[in-house]
Amino acid sequence: MSGAIESVLNETRVFTPPDDSAARIPDMAHYHALRKRFDDDFTGTWGELARQHIHWHKPFSSVLDDSDAPFFKWFADGEVNMSENCLDRHVHAGLGERTAIIWEGESGEVRHISYAALLADVCRAANAMRQLGIEQGDRVVIYMPMIPEAAVAMLACTRIGATHSVVFGAFSANALRERVMDAGAKLVVTADGGWRRGKVHALKPSVDAALEKGCACVEHVLVVKHGGNDVDWQQGRDVDWRQALNAQPDICQPLAVDAEHPLFILYTSGSTGSPKGIVHATGGYLLWSILTMQWVFDFRSDSDVFWCTADIGWITGHTYSVYGPLACGGTTLMYEGVPTYPDAGRLWKICADHGVTVFYTAPTAIRALIKAGDAWPKKHDLSKLRVLGTVGEPINPEAWMWYHEVIGGGRCPIVDTWWQTETGGHMISPLPFATATKPGSASFPLPGIFAEVVDLEGQAVGKGQGGLLVVTKPWPSMLRGIWGDAERYRDTYWQKFDGRYYFAGDGARKDEDGYFWIMGRVDDVLNVSGHRLGTMEIESALVSHAAVAEAAVVGRPDDIKGEAICAFVILKQQASDDLKSELRAHVALEIGPIAKPDDIRFADNLPKTRSGKIMRRLLRDIAAGREITQDISTLEDHRVIAQLQAKD
Ligand code: WTA
Repeated sequence: MSGAIESVLNETRVFTPPDDSAARIPDMAHYHALRKRFDDDFTGTWGELARQHIHWHKPFSSVLDDSDAPFFKWFADGEVNMSENCLDRHVHAGLGERTAIIWEGESGEVRHISYAALLADVCRAANAMRQLGIEQGDRVVIYMPMIPEAAVAMLACTRIGATHSVVFGAFSANALRERVMDAGAKLVVTADGGWRRGKVHALKPSVDAALEKGCACVEHVLVVKHGGNDVDWQQGRDVDWRQALNAQPDICQPLAVDAEHPLFILYTSGSTGSPKGIVHATGGYLLWSILTMQWVFDFRSDSDVFWCTADIGWITGHTYSVYGPLACGGTTLMYEGVPTYPDAGRLWKICADHGVTVFYTAPTAIRALIKAGDAWPKKHDLSKLRVLGTVGEPINPEAWMWYHEVIGGGRCPIVDTWWQTETGGHMISPLPFATATKPGSASFPLPGIFAEVVDLEGQAVGKGQGGLLVVTKPWPSMLRGIWGDAERYRDTYWQKFDGRYYFAGDGARKDEDGYFWIMGRVDDVLNVSGHRLGTMEIESALVSHAAVAEAAVVGRPDDIKGEAICAFVILKQQASDDLKSELRAHVALEIGPIAKPDDIRFADNLPKTRSGKIMRRLLRDIAAGREITQDISTLEDHRVIAQLQAKD
């Protein structure tokens, strides 16, 4: 049974995993055996798993093609269809009546969608897309609230070989336009609006605004009527989703595509430049979404109700709200709305009402709900929960303990999963019924994943040491590149260690027991409420305002968000409080509300070295209100420090 025991090493708490002989990986011996299979026969093991878990139209003969590294190919000559693996094969296995999606709207409306019904809708949507001219290889942007139609749109794309790119619904029209243009999308699927805090947040007007300013590639917009907003229909371009689907037959043969066919593009922030379109391939991604569901969540498709709270606009929503649970033939829950509406008990009420058994969320949500108090979860019956997960940022041990005790009743193992948009699925995580957990540690790499902590020369650090997190061998669900920019892919991820290792951009430490502790980004990427934002993107947004001459953005620790955004701004005009709110609104318009700076500080100058580099470490200390430890003797103008330290 689970219980805290003092570790002799590091004096950290260690929680022994609960016993469950029915678990897929019931103990560490199984974990080590599985790892050993990969050590002994890397490609053979991947090949065997891919044959076992995927329905192939045409079997593959080559498992891994590394002849053009780092452009790796997996199962390249195999042919497969994603939607068929997520839907048809379960219906053919007699599971048509099983619930695929439980959806709850913010107002309390509930829909249960069976596999048979989902398949029929996906076929209609796929036919409708074809009728709008979408063919294999075309890109479709999905800009939707968390409603089942979003999952239908994703699956419909995969049915006909179109590549989707989901854009988070809270991104602005400008951010949407940038992504639509980069992807060269022919179709945008959207809704009139989505519910947030009891109100409808309009989406279609953002699409109109995005397309108005020149997205010549887009031919049609499919609009789901959901929020009751009036829609400004553009003749010839806009099409009503329901009408289009109703006009179509509910049968559409799944198109077999190459395993390497781009399944989707998902934009994410990096340390430089505009967001990059991370490309994922069909076969490898499908395989890893299934295996990680089974290993990391111990997902049981016949009895679990799985709820990942992430929006489909992020990779977590792709892999663990949609593809993973459906590829396994299980039940996934989608909730449209905020976690604290109408009160801070909403998530726990949903868990109780629908009998959620596996719950997956972000530390930022946990911290916000801790603040709301224990009374909320205590009101609801959480006894069905059996596995809890976290993702997106390091979880502080206090939040881990609360999650474990108050939500998990001290009974549920916690899987702290480290991964990235680029990795497609989990990489480092405890296995719920095998790994002894330490609050705040993602523990060990999964079987098949060769992760290491290395120094700047690429040498593995010893136990108890920190360094950079790398992956030393390719894996099936790895990104295949950055859309339209092969060189940037090579430079960003592979150049640091001369093509030998995938560089994740995170720092990590390995403790005396070999547990991995993720320390956070080592580049200029912020992690705000579990969302990635590049400091440069926010700086560019600020500088695009007429009043701003120069801007530097850094993160500072924040109790709830993990990291808050602090902007140091040099103005071309007189400072004022109004200007601060104007700049915040401007960033929301350029990127989206999640990128709004929490602090804006005006100064005459930014601290720079004599060679002209912004002293970011100094700015981080100032933002956090820490003592300045950096040597500032090279700083040209010492007065700026006092200015920058002055708060609102
Ligand atoms: C961070 C989200 C600590 C990390 C799936 C990574 C984490 C970035 C964890 C990727 C974790 C994710 N512990 N840090 N369990 N999970 N991160 O692409 O900095 O939105 O590089 O993917 O989030 O964010 P992304």
